[in-house]
Amino acid sequence: MRGASTDLSLSAAEARVGRRTVLVGLGASCATLGMPRPAASVEGEALKTIAAGRGLTYGCAVFEKTLRDDARMREAVLREVASIVAGYEMKWRPTAPAEGRADYRAGDELLRFATDNGLALRGHTVVWHQNPPLWAIPRLHGREGEELVFAHIRDIMGHYRGRVREWDVVNEAVNVPEGRPDGLRRWGPYERGYDFLADCFRVAHEADPDAVLCYNDFGLEYDRIDQAAKRAAVLRLVEALKARGAPIHAVGIQSHLIAWYPFSQGVFRKFLADLAGLDLRIRLTELDMNERKVGGDIGKRDRFGASLVRRYLDAALDEKAVTGVLTWGLSDSENWLTGYAPRLDGLPQRSMPLDEAFERKPIWYALASAFRNAPSR
Ligand code: G3I
Repeated sequence: MRGASTDLSLSAAEARVGRRTVLVGLGASCATLGMPRPAASVEGEALKTIAAGRGLTYGCAVFEKTLRDDARMREAVLREVASIVAGYEMKWRPTAPAEGRADYRAGDELLRFATDNGLALRGHTVVWHQNPPLWAIPRLHGREGEELVFAHIRDIMGHYRGRVREWDVVNEAVNVPEGRPDGLRRWGPYERGYDFLADCFRVAHEADPDAVLCYNDFGLEYDRIDQAAKRAAVLRLVEALKARGAPIHAVGIQSHLIAWYPFSQGVFRKFLADLAGLDLRIRLTELDMNERKVGGDIGKRDRFGASLVRRYLDAALDEKAVTGVLTWGLSDSENWLTGYAPRLDGLPQRSMPLDEAFERKPIWYALASAFRNAPSR
């Protein structure tokens, strides 16, 4: 079983989980983890090429404005990835500024960029409680709420029909602490529970019969009681969708890794096997590393974060149903976690494969090594 042999032991003097800081060093060096010392400049195979060599697709989230304005980001995306996903522009709120008025310009720009450069554009995300348009919010209840959601599914997936080959149809519908027996969120459109979600996938399939339809969620990765409960609830959800004949093809595990959470390769492998056993493909859809509590100098932080990414990917890529890996960004020059989970020392987070100067970091090498060591699909 891969991964177990990787020496991730932390020297006792260095690894101490405190209330405020995870003081880390690494007994293992970059070399031990199969990561050559970071190259001074960009050279060698790109992540997309290494991934493709194992039948994997590597991609990343992008923002249309950044791609337009930052040549360095454009160059890095074109060098490193085979697919892109819109971090924001293809969600309900930005694409439906007023009822009956769609605005797909930003998504269309991303599609043009992808098409012109031979990249796939992944659709994210159609049904999500966090991003309905403001005009719709008061009406998202009962039958009217459902019809507003169905109309949006038809609108956006009809607009991109045949051009966006995979969609996160439903995003983050499960939230066990809200206490529903089915584990779903208490969001207006979800009143009918599994039956409504099955209808969402049916409407999506009608809108684009050739699209791969995914359920996407976070908080599924770690050996914690809350995440074990969420894994069980997500399994019940996808089983219920399958039992209703809903055309669900894949599950997206967002993979927003958290440096101080306990990770069990065995527990995570079992979850992936359970999903694969339902004849579902699996994507790691938003991979990044929250290292806000990780102390030490930048070198130590980078090596520690990379070792955790490597350990996670070794477990994930052992499951051949995992065929896509996307990072939720590419460079620390645009790292959402710096603002969302600010470090106590005020320094920017270092969660992405490239640093703020678009140089490859240990996380880049962890991805490359994990792809190289993955069984072929
Ligand atoms: O671009 C507009 C700008 O023109 C406008 O002036 C400004 C006013 O608020 O908003 C800007 O858009 C922001 C957008 O990010 C682009 O930066 C939105 O306000 C902001 O809400 C949006 O946040 C995104 C968030 O999802 C909500 O859509 C984050 O960038 C994005 O990283 C985050 O991604 C989510 C995934 O979709 C689902 N999984 C969790 C993940 C992280 O939260």
